[in-house]
Amino acid sequence: MKIGVLSDIHSNAVALEAVLSRLEDANVEEYICAGDVVGYYSRPNETISLLKEVNPLIVRGNHDEGVTTETPTSFNYYAKRSLDWNRRELTEEGMRFLRRLPPTIRTEIGGREVFIAHGSPRNPISEYIHEEDISEEFLDYSFENPPEVVVLGHTHKPYVKKVGDTLVLNPGSVGQPRDRDPRASFAVLETEKPSAEIRKAWYNVDEIAEHTKEYLPRKLADRLYEGK
Ligand SMILES: [Fe+2]
Repeated sequence: MKIGVLSDIHSNAVALEAVLSRLEDANVEEYICAGDVVGYYSRPNETISLLKEVNPLIVRGNHDEGVTTETPTSFNYYAKRSLDWNRRELTEEGMRFLRRLPPTIRTEIGGREVFIAHGSPRNPISEYIHEEDISEEFLDYSFENPPEVVVLGHTHKPYVKKVGDTLVLNPGSVGQPRDRDPRASFAVLETEKPSAEIRKAWYNVDEIAEHTKEYLPRKLADRLYEGK
């Protein structure tokens, strides 16, 4: 079974639409989202509507938590300002969707046991796990029984790494890539082997950048052109 894997969309509905179109062309049957649906950019309600159409297995990110909390801590000025704006902009239905997101999911999909978290298995909302952190030791520390597939997000940098019998992947960020590639980043997981491939989609950066600049600091829009 082919699964489309997304993370860190951050209210960039323009990038999400491009990615969903590519995943439809790739004939994926299911979707996974590793959190951070909102924050940073200016189209939160549209982003949630698009996501609901594909009904993904989805967990909560630190920005999803931040927007549903009145006084979030540990965000920088730009993230905080954007969260405040996103909170005002979100419909009650959107807020309800975000409040209900679980911190982790462990389930069987396509015959494989899959674990999903935004940050790390032990600190699912806010710990950063980078490619170099993935090791046998990390899996032993994180799980009593490591699953066959682990999906993480939060770093906005994509990787696929096999450790023992476990495939660990981070699809990178749909809405705010930080790997110096401005294209929207996502992944296709093939459960048969299992294996995963990072993919990139061009989208209309001007459209979301111009819209964002109407309401939020210009710096958030500018970084999209550099993928950082
Ligand atoms: Fe994020």
